[in-house]
Amino acid sequence: MARLPIIVAPDPRLKRKCAAVEAVDETVRTLMDDMLETMYAAPGIGLAAPQVGIASRVIVVDIAREGEERSPYRMANPEVVHVSEELASYEEGCLSLPEHYSEVTRPSEATIRYLDENNERREVEVEGMLATCIQHEIDHLDGILFVDRISRLKRDMIIKKLVKAKRAEARASD
Ligand code: NI
Repeated sequence: MARLPIIVAPDPRLKRKCAAVEAVDETVRTLMDDMLETMYAAPGIGLAAPQVGIASRVIVVDIAREGEERSPYRMANPEVVHVSEELASYEEGCLSLPEHYSEVTRPSEATIRYLDENNERREVEVEGMLATCIQHEIDHLDGILFVDRISRLKRDMIIKKLVKAKRAEARASD
């Protein structure tokens, strides 16, 4: 397994619509494992392929807390097939928007259809933080970041700070 560099916003690679995988083969399985390793090391609870520069519909999620047993999901071509009318708000963060958090409202329950690491078609009903996290990761596959779901004012503020941080970093490495 290998750790992959995580792309930080703003970056056009985070705004692309990703392509479905044809099947979960060895290449996709390796990507899933590398993404999990990258996510655990960060640490984070979810990661989508575009965040590591791959425009494929692949996500990994594990909301287990530190000290709890790991329970990773590896999903290819995940689709939201049903959502509850009930909504829930969580403070969301993103490894591509480091150190920025904002409350985002999404359906509190969702049914997700996907291909697992063995290329088996699966469907899972999720709720709470897991539902939020999976919906956040699926958004990434369509070029949507959590800041696209908050007020423009807050979004602009966060993006401005990230641009500034990138400039400072570029200067430091000159
Ligand atoms: Ni994210």
